[in-house]
Amino acid sequence: MLNVNGIDVGYGHAMVLHDVSLELKKGEMVFIVGRNGAGKTTLLKTISGIMQPANGGITYDGEDTRGLSAEKLARRGMRFVAQDKKVFTHLTVRDNLQLAAHASKEKMSDAIQKATSIYPDLSKFMESKAGGLSGGQREILLIGRALVGSPRLLLIDEPTEGLAAIVIEDISRILNQLKSENVSAIIVEQNLSLVNRLADRIYVMKEGKIIKEIADKSEMRDTAGLENYL
Ligand SMILES: Nc1ncnc2c1ncn2[C@@H]1O[C@H](COP(=O)(O)OP(=O)(O)OP(=O)(O)O)[C@@H](O)[C@H]1O
Ligand SMILES: [Mg+2]
Repeated sequence: MLNVNGIDVGYGHAMVLHDVSLELKKGEMVFIVGRNGAGKTTLLKTISGIMQPANGGITYDGEDTRGLSAEKLARRGMRFVAQDKKVFTHLTVRDNLQLAAHASKEKMSDAIQKATSIYPDLSKFMESKAGGLSGGQREILLIGRALVGSPRLLLIDEPTEGLAAIVIEDISRILNQLKSENVSAIIVEQNLSLVNRLADRIYVMKEGKIIKEIADKSEMRDTAGLENYL
């Protein structure tokens, strides 16, 4: 459903992605791993239309995305959950979901149902200000919000970054649930034990390039081996 074909991407004239190619088939959960500064976020931002490649191209459901804005891609079901865990802090959890429901023209009851399907406890916080949520709860809200409407492709940037071990388990369970529902997703993640439990395939990035694709199950489960590529 997604093909990234030899893209170069930069900030101004400074290129940070070099000839990056990857593919995602419908229903796959693919992980991208790599050190800080490898270019993982830049890659997700480019797929989601926030940044444009200088060379190469991307097709989404067979359509060339060149010239399609992030808003247009979102309307076609692409959902980017950014690394910064930014929610609308002054709004309630309900109103955060309401904005997503409005944007995707979905009924509010359906939006709440989708968001709480991954984490029933979210219903307890509906009338709380999102600014009062913990980092983990914010991430869960953001993933829940991404499920509103008709998401076809989730792009999630470091969902467990900065979270306590117990919350990482919640996120892991949520991702596992999405996987069992055959949600198509590209997830950037540095927690290798989570990656090797959930990945259908793994791409390793280093210095703006994809240096390795791992599709072999036993190789994917070998955390120490994965570590060697980082
Ligand atoms: N707004 C920007 N302007 C200029 N350079 C940037 C900008 N954002 C990122 N970079 C540079 O691009 C490179 C890739 O950054 P990117 O954020 O994509 O890496 P990352 O793999 O997501 O890292 P992290 O694990 O820290 O999130 C880095 O060298 C970074 O310094
Ligand atoms: Mg990043």
